[in-house]
Amino acid sequence: MLSARHTAVLLQLLHLVWSVTDGSSSSGTPPAPLVPARPPRTKNGPRRAEQVELLKLVKPGAMNLSCVLDDFLGATPDTIRVSWERDGVEIAQSEVTVQRADGRYSLRKEFFIERPGNYSCIFRNDTQEVTKAFLVTAPAMKEVRDKPVVGYVRDSVVLTCKIHPAPPAWQWYKVNGSEKDAVNTTAEPPRYKVTDKGEEVALTVMNLTEEDSGSYLCVALYLIAPAEGAVHLRVITFVEPLKPFLAIMTEVLLLVSLIVACELRGRTRAAQATATAGPENGRNVSGGEKAWPEESNGVEEAATRQRKA
Ligand SMILES: *[C@@H]1O[C@H](CO)[C@@H](O)[C@H](O)[C@H]1NC(C)=O
Ligand SMILES: *[C@@H]1O[C@H](CO)[C@@H](O)[C@H](O)[C@H]1NC(C)=O
Ligand SMILES: *[C@@H]1O[C@H](CO)[C@@H](O)[C@H](O)[C@H]1NC(C)=O
Ligand SMILES: *[C@@H]1O[C@H](CO)[C@@H](O)[C@H](O)[C@H]1NC(C)=O
Ligand SMILES: *[C@@H]1O[C@H](CO)[C@@H](O)[C@H](O)[C@H]1NC(C)=O
Ligand SMILES: *[C@@H]1O[C@H](CO)[C@@H](O)[C@H](O)[C@H]1NC(C)=O
Ligand SMILES: *[C@@H]1O[C@H](CO)[C@@H](O)[C@H](O)[C@H]1NC(C)=O
Repeated sequence: MLSARHTAVLLQLLHLVWSVTDGSSSSGTPPAPLVPARPPRTKNGPRRAEQVELLKLVKPGAMNLSCVLDDFLGATPDTIRVSWERDGVEIAQSEVTVQRADGRYSLRKEFFIERPGNYSCIFRNDTQEVTKAFLVTAPAMKEVRDKPVVGYVRDSVVLTCKIHPAPPAWQWYKVNGSEKDAVNTTAEPPRYKVTDKGEEVALTVMNLTEEDSGSYLCVALYLIAPAEGAVHLRVITFVEPLKPFLAIMTEVLLLVSLIVACELRGRTRAAQATATAGPENGRNVSGGEKAWPEESNGVEEAATRQRKA
């Protein structure tokens, strides 16, 4: 007993609900691949970085760094001067003269490395330089996720970090503006639980409130330098993901009740009409036509169909 117009609107709404449901299921499409930004190349600079080697250290210690060069920018002088730099600053009295031997220039120096940094050897003559850099770092956190972890109010949530090798200890922080507050696992009532499994650590945040939303830092406390990872948490209420759906459902229900109201009105009038026109003759709605002139064709049609059924 729906009028053509009402039916059309309802169909549109249903289509809307459909496409919203559809959209949420196809939201997992992978993002466009990121194009790595290439650093500009300085072809004719006086200093040429020949090689960079990454060294991961977990604790301070002695280490032999060795530099080998086959030729000096195409030339093969008998000797070449080499000095060392740490973080761009020349290490005093580090310059030595290296003899060409076995078709190359080779030297080694033992360092006691206390902290991450950039150690480089610089081969040079009076006009040109060639460097080899060793970038000493602490291990980095694995599988860093940029999407936030979602938790529900009053529920609990588990945040995890992974690193290799296992650090001597882990620490969690909650970011508060520019500050970071150490997570207190002994406070009463307990809000946090830390599970340290060596290479993996888990922070359970219990009894979530919306104030628990934000960034958490897991810190692997290596002796050479701490390694940090960030996990973002978003605490939402149960209704939040349903909100757009509920809005549409409300509209649909409103419309349906409107249609039902119209229908009831129509039925009453149709009943009046049929009372005059006779119940068996479906086509004979002359009484009705008189009651509703031209504009309410839809309701008249509906009334007709209703009587047929
Ligand atoms: C560096 O090399 C020297 C000479 O071969 C050696 O005596 C020393 O033990 C080495 N140091 C380390 C940390 O391996
Ligand atoms: C320095 O080395 C470059 C490249 O091998 C060479 O062209 C240049 O003549 C050298 N300069 C001096 C002063 O030896
Ligand atoms: C490391 O130091 C060398 C020489 O000082 C420099 O050429 C290189 O750009 C530095 N690398 C980084 C990543 O700082
Ligand atoms: C965040 O920092 C401010 C100022 O340092 C402090 O007043 C507030 O209590 C902190 N919030 C939490 C949740 O610790
Ligand atoms: C953790 O909270 C408890 C109880 O509030 C307090 O006694 C303790 O000092 C706190 N620990 C730290 C590391 O802040
Ligand atoms: C959770 O928090 C509410 C309000 O802050 C509190 O009443 C309740 O006791 C807490 N539940 C647990 C298990 O800590
Ligand atoms: C239907 O209408 C026709 C003409 O208006 C009339 O002759 C006939 O009696 C009506 N039938 C009924 C059942 O009222």
